[in-house]
Amino acid sequence: MKYIDKIKNSIEYKKDAIILGIESSCDETCASVVKGGREVLSNVISSQIEIHKRFGGVVPEIASRNHTMSIVSVVDEALKDANITLDDVDAIAVTYGAGLVGALLTGVAYAKTLCLAKNIPLVKVNHIRGHIAASYIESKKLVPPFLSVITSGGHTALLKIIDFENHEFIGGTMDDAVGEAFDKVAKTLKLPYPGGPQISKLAMLGENVISLPKMLKNEKNYNFSYSGLKTAVINYVHKCEQSGTEVSRADLAKSFETTAIDVIVEKAEMAMKEFGLETVAIAGGVGANDYYRQEMQKMADKNNFEVVIPSKVFCTDNASMIAAEGYIQYYYAKEITELDLNAVPSIKL
Ligand code: KG4
Ligand code: ZN
Repeated sequence: MKYIDKIKNSIEYKKDAIILGIESSCDETCASVVKGGREVLSNVISSQIEIHKRFGGVVPEIASRNHTMSIVSVVDEALKDANITLDDVDAIAVTYGAGLVGALLTGVAYAKTLCLAKNIPLVKVNHIRGHIAASYIESKKLVPPFLSVITSGGHTALLKIIDFENHEFIGGTMDDAVGEAFDKVAKTLKLPYPGGPQISKLAMLGENVISLPKMLKNEKNYNFSYSGLKTAVINYVHKCEQSGTEVSRADLAKSFETTAIDVIVEKAEMAMKEFGLETVAIAGGVGANDYYRQEMQKMADKNNFEVVIPSKVFCTDNASMIAAEGYIQYYYAKEITELDLNAVPSIKL
């Protein structure tokens, strides 16, 4: 009998299902075991940062090779930490996109192999939906509707989460993503990869005293734009260099951080009011930024909104969020994936 028929004939969709999540879309090989979509039993992350640092960014071919070398041990460790074996796993959730195709393929191929060998249901997960689902791990009582503010290396968007399965796009960036802007500004300031956390650290020593363009701030729409802000920072540095003025790197980092973040918090507040929502949740790697976390909290307190700010480890890439979204696909949508699943480098939100 074909794998999918065998699975569909025998599956019972359990509320407290144990999901093994696998994530390998960029430069982190991750595996995690999550129970009932919210309870993290293990969360293993093998980072390649040190390997890519010397190149100033992720080298796709090197990333794929390193995923291949570590995926087996990372999954083993996640099962061991959770004190279970593959026989206890109700479904395997794997990121199939968006991301680097070779990197994604490693996770996809390994997940498919385990599912075929052990007759385990396979569930494909969209990486960005995974970031959104990290909120369910952080807040065990969180249920839709709520506003998800996606701020990562590839996305800047506001989504209304209507129910567990359905999301509505409210607005997003017209050019660069906010995380991408952090990374590019970090390069201009000659900070090591990955740039976002470095800017964050440097900004703590500076003041917001350099005037930068307030990209679409105070405009009554939900668009974002970061390419002009990034260019303004580059031009500022060049001008200082040409006139022999020393760049106050900490002030520039703080001014950039404030400008980049304030517009997100402002538009999130506007969306909360317009759509009559009561809870706002942060999603994605930029969520690890302390200024952003603090400003979102302040905005929520001022308006009496509930706010969900996932722990930093669940903002940046991890497999617990993939298992959490996998649980939604398995338990609510009952979407079991066939073994011809392929990696998809870019998928719509
Ligand atoms: O969500 P993520 O880990 O990967 C994507 O799906 O894109 O986000 C990575 C992005 C990078 O651009 C990184 O520089 C940024 O998140 N980031 C930060 C911080 N930590 C990570 N940006 C600002 N402040 C941080 N502390
Ligand atoms: Zn991510």
